[in-house]
Amino acid sequence: MTQGRLAGKTILISGGASGIGLATARRALTQGAHVAIGDIDAAAGERAARETPGLHFVRLDVTSDASWAAAVDDVRTRFRRIDGVVNSAGIFLIGDIETCSDEDWRKTHAVNLDGVFYGCRHAVRAMKHHGGSIVNMSSVSGIVGGHNVLAYNSSKGAVRMLSKSIALHCARKGYKIRCNSVHPTFVDTPMFRDTIDHAREPERIRAALLAQVPLGRPAAPEEIADLIVYLLSDESAFVTGAEMVIDGGLTAQ
Ligand SMILES: NC(=O)c1ccc[n+]([C@@H]2O[C@H](COP(=O)([O-])OP(=O)(O)OC[C@H]3O[C@@H](n4cnc5c(N)ncnc54)[C@H](O)[C@@H]3O)[C@@H](O)[C@H]2O)c1
Repeated sequence: MTQGRLAGKTILISGGASGIGLATARRALTQGAHVAIGDIDAAAGERAARETPGLHFVRLDVTSDASWAAAVDDVRTRFRRIDGVVNSAGIFLIGDIETCSDEDWRKTHAVNLDGVFYGCRHAVRAMKHHGGSIVNMSSVSGIVGGHNVLAYNSSKGAVRMLSKSIALHCARKGYKIRCNSVHPTFVDTPMFRDTIDHAREPERIRAALLAQVPLGRPAAPEEIADLIVYLLSDESAFVTGAEMVIDGGLTAQ
C-alpha cells in the first residue's frame, strides 16, 4: 500500500500478539505500514499473523538482548529497514512493599524495564542512519503511585525517564529518532481482564477501578493504538521526550 499515515514505513511491535500491541499492529497495517509483531507467546503470535493478512510474526523474548538482536535482524532482512519500534510487551503483578517477592520484583523489571532498554538499544542501532520513532508503553502507573503495584509502579516510572533520556541523546546526536512514552489507565485487554478475573470480588473491583476514571469506562485498545500511530507517523515530527497521557481524565483530578 502506498497510501496512509504510515505508508512505506516498517514497524516492529513487541508484545504484538495481544492487547494494545495487536491493536496497534492492525491499525498500522491499515495505514500502509509493513508490520512485524514480536512476542514470547508463539502460539498467539502465529494465530494473530494467520488471522491478519500482511502481519509478520517473529519470536521475541524482550528480556534477552540476543533475542532482540535476532528479531530486529529478521525484520530488516525481510523488509530492508525499520522505521518504528513500539515497546508494548509488559506484565502486571500485584504486590506491595511487604508482599512483593524478589522473584516478582525481578520478573517485572526484566520484562517491563530491561525489555524496553534492549528494545530501544536495537531500535537506535537499526534507525540511527535514517531516523525513526520509538514508542514506549508506560502507564499512568509511571506517573502516580498505587499502594499495591510496587514493582509495576517502579518499572513504569523508569520507562518514563528512560524514554526522555533516549529522546535527548538522539536529538543531540542528530539521529532524527524520536522517543516518547505512552501512559494509559485501564485498557480493555487480556491484561486488564485477567487482573479483574483473578480478584476475589471481580465485579466490585471492576466497578471500583472504573469509578476512578472520569470518563467512567476502560479505554478500547484501538484508542491507544490511534495515539501510537500518531507517534509513529510524520504528523508527530516535533514530538519527542513527551509523556502522552491517555487516561479518561484520571490524572486530571
Ligand atoms: N491494559 C491496561 O490496562 C494497561 C494500562 C496501562 C499500560 N499498559 C501497558 O501496555 C502494554 C501492553 O499491555 P496489554 O494490556 O496489551 O497487555 P497484554 O497482556 O494483552 O499483552 C502483552 C503482551 O506482551 C507479551 N509479553 C509478555 N512478556 C514478554 C516477553 N518476555 N517477551 C515478549 N513478549 C512478552 C505477552 O505475551 C502479550 O502478548 C504493557 O506494557 C502494559 O503494562 C496496559
